[in-house]
Formats: sequence, C-alpha cells, structure tokens
Amino acid sequence: MPENSCKIAVFISGGGSNLQSIIDHIEQGHINADIACVISNKPNAYGLVRAQKANIPTHINDHKNHTTRESFELELIKTLDVYNIKLIVLAGFMRVLSTTFINKYHGNILNIHPSLLPKYTGLNTHSRVLEAGDTEHGCSVHFVTSDLDEGPLVIQAKVKVDKSDTPDVLAARVLEKEHIIYPLAVKWFCENRLAFKNSKAHLDDSPLDQAVLLTQDLETLLK
Ligand code: GRF
Repeated sequence: MPENSCKIAVFISGGGSNLQSIIDHIEQGHINADIACVISNKPNAYGLVRAQKANIPTHINDHKNHTTRESFELELIKTLDVYNIKLIVLAGFMRVLSTTFINKYHGNILNIHPSLLPKYTGLNTHSRVLEAGDTEHGCSVHFVTSDLDEGPLVIQAKVKVDKSDTPDVLAARVLEKEHIIYPLAVKWFCENRLAFKNSKAHLDDSPLDQAVLLTQDLETLLK
C-alpha cells in the first residue's frame, strides 16, 4: 500500500461490480487509494464477497435491524470513525442518506447514477429511457447533496440506445461505462484534483459548469 494513500469507505447494497472496478484499478496502481472498509446494508450482497477476496474489512449494517434512519446512520458513523476516511463512495447503495449524515461528510461523498443526469433521477432508469424512445443514455458520477441524484456533476459517459435493447441489455452497456468513470472520479479526488467548493464540483481548481464527458483520451488514464 503506497504511503499517504487516500482512505475510502465504499457503501454497497448489491453485486458490487463498481466496487470491483475500483479495487482492480487500485491493485493495478492507477489509483493511489486504500479501501479501508466496505459497508453493506444487505447481508447477502455479493459485493461483500468481492471485498473479502481483496482482504478489505467488511461491515454489515442491516437497515432492517434499526427502527429509525438516525440509528441506522449512527451505526454507519460509528464504523466510519474507526477508519480515517477521506471519501465515501456510494456504489449501488440503495438507502437514502439524511441531510444530517450528508452534511457531516459534506464534499466527501460521491455517487454513481445510471443515467445522464439531470435526466432520469430515481429508479428504473433503463426502462424509462426505452419507454421514452431516447437514442442516447449513459451514467453520471456526482457529489452527493441532500437533493437526491442532484448534486454537482463530475463526469458522464454516453452510450447509444438500440431499438432492439431490453432494459438488461442497456443496463449492461451502461455498466461498462460506469466501471470507467467511477474509478476516474475516485482517482481525481484522491489526487486532490477534484473537490466540492462553493456548491460546485471543481477539477484542477476550475469549476465544472457541466460534467466532464468521457473520451478515449481519458480512458487511457486507467491503462
Ligand atoms: C449501478 O448501475 C449503479 O449506477 C446503481 O446501482 C448499480 C450498482 O451496480 N446505482 P453494482 O452493485 O456496482 O454492480
């Protein structure tokens, strides 16, 4: 583990393929970071197995064991306090976090969403894109604020929508791009190039008025 690496907590609820992509890029030396812990609200999330295979400490905080969101989040905070966390990465984490929690870690929480935000916040994005007949779809990484899926955008990737696509086929095409843009955003954050200042995402000290769009040149940063 390189010294002074950026300590990350990854929150998951499911398969953890985005977690895996970040693990792989850290192992390949593309990101100077240390995933200090993976926290899942679902005891059977496959992402927990991925973390264990990579020798990353895992914590299950099942929301069903809590009667209030406050108590669920207090347990999250207790776990985060054990590690010296610089960045929280929400990777398919299916619980809404309270304003109190988000403010506590203000500017230090990233999320990935499977749509070209601001289009299609919320769930079932792929079916909604197909129903609307859109020809273009994609994914977005953004800083988390208390407005669900509406925090400042960092990076987006686009995919074409084919007439024959089913939601699953489209989701798989989008996921391939998620596995590139999330590691890139984490890399920039850990290199202190990406920050949340004055309500805006900044890259290299310049405010991002719109998301960076993934290009082949950017992809080479992860090769
Ligand atoms: C991804 O599509 C992500 O954008 C969404 O949930 C899915 C998680 O996939 N929020 P995985 O658990 O990382 O495989």
